[in-house]
Amino acid sequence: MPARIIDGKLLAKQIRDDLAQKIKAMVNAGNQQPGLAVVLVGDNPASQLYVSMKQKACAEVGIYSEEHRLPASISQEELLAVIERLNKDPKIHGILVQLPLPEGFDEQVVINHIKPEKDVDGFHPINIGKLQTGQKTFVPCTPAGVMKMLDSIGIDLTGKKAVVVGRSNIVGKPVAQLLLQRNATVTICHSKTNNLAEECRQADVLVVAVGHPELVKADWVKPGAVVIDVGISKVGSKTVGDVAFDEVKEVAGWLTPVPGGVGPMTIAMLLTNTVAAAN
Ligand code: GUN
Repeated sequence: MPARIIDGKLLAKQIRDDLAQKIKAMVNAGNQQPGLAVVLVGDNPASQLYVSMKQKACAEVGIYSEEHRLPASISQEELLAVIERLNKDPKIHGILVQLPLPEGFDEQVVINHIKPEKDVDGFHPINIGKLQTGQKTFVPCTPAGVMKMLDSIGIDLTGKKAVVVGRSNIVGKPVAQLLLQRNATVTICHSKTNNLAEECRQADVLVVAVGHPELVKADWVKPGAVVIDVGISKVGSKTVGDVAFDEVKEVAGWLTPVPGGVGPMTIAMLLTNTVAAAN
């Protein structure tokens, strides 16, 4: 039996609809409209697309948003000054600096400058530390979206073997942490892992976030496994994930599509975090 598809597009729409209701109720009760500032430095085409999708999603649910497009030629000090202003701006509850930053910027210094209470990406070391120690905080958007997708199929992760491929600060590390919090036995794999296919084959839950088009083949997947594909790449005119969808769907129990899987969930979770920041 082919894998059942986890429809991120549909799930994200449900989350956005719920948020729109919640925001309406907040504003009707006399509370401030949640506000998000998105900062984009340089002209990376993929980043431009992501940022415009985030802005559009804000408008749809009733979040005030502003976009700060800055040339790659600005200095790091000027960027920090923009963040400083947003940190103090009472209209702004969430600040997102789109990554990657152009060459010459120290991403960690920039992230460290965002006020932790406005860090809706959950990338500030204080918020990472809180996540690691099980305290309430902003959960990074893509990992939060992955967990919502797992919840949507009603899987109990206790005792399950989860394999995460990729060790980025944005996805791999936090998603591993969240799976651990749910009592999964977690293995993090990366580019230096020996026998990657064999590691993947052990997984009851396989999360792949490396940005390598169609890396994961059918014989890397345990029959019936839940496979979450975080990758998104263009191959010619086709958008593909890190999982070879057509062949893996014949083996997996559940599978996320690309596009229409994790991507829309990431944006839905950004909106969720922004509303939480305003409360
Ligand atoms: N670049 C790729 N994913 C993300 C994300 O979730 N947040 C930010 N700020 N930049 C990204």
